[in-house]
Amino acid sequence: MKKLYEGKAKILYSTEDTEVLLTHFKDDATAFNAQKRGTIGQKGKMNCQITVALFQWLESKGIQTHLIEQSADDKILVKRVKIIPIEVVVRNIAAGSLCRQTGLEEGYQLPFPLVEYYFKKDELGDPLLTRDRLFVLELATEEQLKQLQTLALSINQYLQELFASCQITLVDFKLEFGIDTQGQILLADEISPDTCRLWDQNESDPQRRVMDKDRFRRDLGQVETAYQQVQKRILDRLASH
Ligand code: C5P
Repeated sequence: MKKLYEGKAKILYSTEDTEVLLTHFKDDATAFNAQKRGTIGQKGKMNCQITVALFQWLESKGIQTHLIEQSADDKILVKRVKIIPIEVVVRNIAAGSLCRQTGLEEGYQLPFPLVEYYFKKDELGDPLLTRDRLFVLELATEEQLKQLQTLALSINQYLQELFASCQITLVDFKLEFGIDTQGQILLADEISPDTCRLWDQNESDPQRRVMDKDRFRRDLGQVETAYQQVQKRILDRLASH
């Protein structure tokens, strides 16, 4: 196995099959474009397990993903795709950078799901894109952008449904997509408490309800416990499905 790429939370390896790659989920955690670094115990395994469960759930709803199978507690085999350098963020409730940039209050229920596109480029700090900037940079065609939006909104509906049945509110999340050898757009990367904001519906306290990486970003403590809770609720829910 050859290391192809090491990111902040995952390492990508080649395998004997040129069409198949192996993703290793690390315990390393970073925030604010890697200005804050740490580790979260068992994070690699938990995020791997959660991603597999959510991708399989989405596959069952007809969303195509890059997932082939889980090959170890913290490893998955995935189809080789060309990653589209756009981070697609979907928001249901105002939080994070949306509040900072617009002055909306954290917790404000958005009148419709907001789909946003960010340029996946660490050196630039992943800036927010406009539709025209996206076309100028040739990051996607008009047709592909339409597909990304449709996919993002469907994924939001399916995930909201699943999380709600686990007493979790899906505040916002980030998706990445890739293009396979046939030119199809597949959901790629991961969906985990590292890439979502998740609020516990059984807690009204704005700090205690946080079940995602904001616990690490904001030094709220109990990060591992929160991730474990998310994993347990999702796996229990899917096991009884
Ligand atoms: O920081 P911001 O409020 O824009 O993040 C929106 C959502 O996207 C959050 O759930 C965050 O965890 C996720 N995100 C991510 N990776 C990034 C930027 C945001 O997973 N590089």
